[in-house]
Amino acid sequence: MDERIITNKKQEEDTFEETIRPDSIDEYIGQTEVKENLNIFIEAAKMRNESLDHVLLYGPPGLGKTTLAYIIANELGVNIKTASGPSIEKAGDLAAILSTLEEGDVLFIDEIHRIPRFIEEILYPAMEDFKLDIIVGSEGSSRNIRIDLPPFTLVGATTRCGDLTSPLRDRFGIVSKLQFYSVEELTDIVKRTSRVLDTPIEDEAAIELATRSRGTPRIANRLFKRVRDFAYVMNDGVINLDITNKALDKLKVDKLGLDDTDYNLLKSIIEKFNGGPVGIDALASSIGEEVSTIEDVYEPYLLQNGFLKRTPRGRMVTEKAYKHLNKEQTEQNSLF
Ligand SMILES: Nc1ncnc2c1ncn2[C@@H]1O[C@H](COP(=O)(O)OP(=O)(O)O)[C@@H](O)[C@H]1O
Ligand SMILES: [Mg+2]
Repeated sequence: MDERIITNKKQEEDTFEETIRPDSIDEYIGQTEVKENLNIFIEAAKMRNESLDHVLLYGPPGLGKTTLAYIIANELGVNIKTASGPSIEKAGDLAAILSTLEEGDVLFIDEIHRIPRFIEEILYPAMEDFKLDIIVGSEGSSRNIRIDLPPFTLVGATTRCGDLTSPLRDRFGIVSKLQFYSVEELTDIVKRTSRVLDTPIEDEAAIELATRSRGTPRIANRLFKRVRDFAYVMNDGVINLDITNKALDKLKVDKLGLDDTDYNLLKSIIEKFNGGPVGIDALASSIGEEVSTIEDVYEPYLLQNGFLKRTPRGRMVTEKAYKHLNKEQTEQNSLF
């Protein structure tokens, strides 16, 4: 079988992320509601000796979807097999993955919204009745056969819940939205990372780093790594507030965690589109980014934090954005 599509190993994952990835629900910081619910469903499934209902995890990148999928398998005490939407190109790819499943396994499909529709349909009977319908034989003499699958749990992850077809979405018994993390939670995550990597960080520095991490553990961990490098070279390895500020300023991450692209985006709306509203396509081409990158990666945080708002006619910057960027708001666009 194609190693690229399915593997028990967390192959193409960044090894740094792997070393610091929590592997039990107790170590998973924040997302309290999601965790509490999952805990109950996992315990119940174990008590009944049944497979856990299918789980859909959605939310912006870096909030812990993949981590949680592995934790679910760990807590259930079962194996996890992984695949990702874009790597499933043919019906046979998915059929091959499904036919390797063993009783109780977790099948984790990342970016599940990117499975082509005609392949997705194979998932419906697999999820609902644990049946796999396949066509055997060549054209003219082909026939359908139905194979029993062992009970398994599909964990799907997506940055775009809205892109999922409703038949697929409806087949998940548990749907959980991951939220941006609070500064306190991110501070705990930074401190945890510091313990795991055996690299001390002073409290004030941890808070500063957390504040500038856009509510996102992946960013917090990456910034930690960069700050650590600065500390090694410039400060005998001591990560204090001063070195953290210096490093983050050098990395052009501002006090609220906005980076170059965020600035470009907000500035472009202000300067080229008079504050908006501007359509996403025009905005994307004006800053040379993909529409999907803006929608999945940049916008959620800017919306959540009130720098940007969505209107029926497009994106608009807010007063907060003008203030933050030190821009004068003109009469004209303050009318909106
Ligand atoms: N709740 C959490 N507690 C601690 N670390 C976390 C948490 N969520 C994510 N992380 C860290 O952030 C990184 C990115 O998480 P990941 O699960 O890959 O995000 P996603 O799949 O949503 O893009 C991982 O390395 C993990 O260590
Ligand atoms: Mg992931």
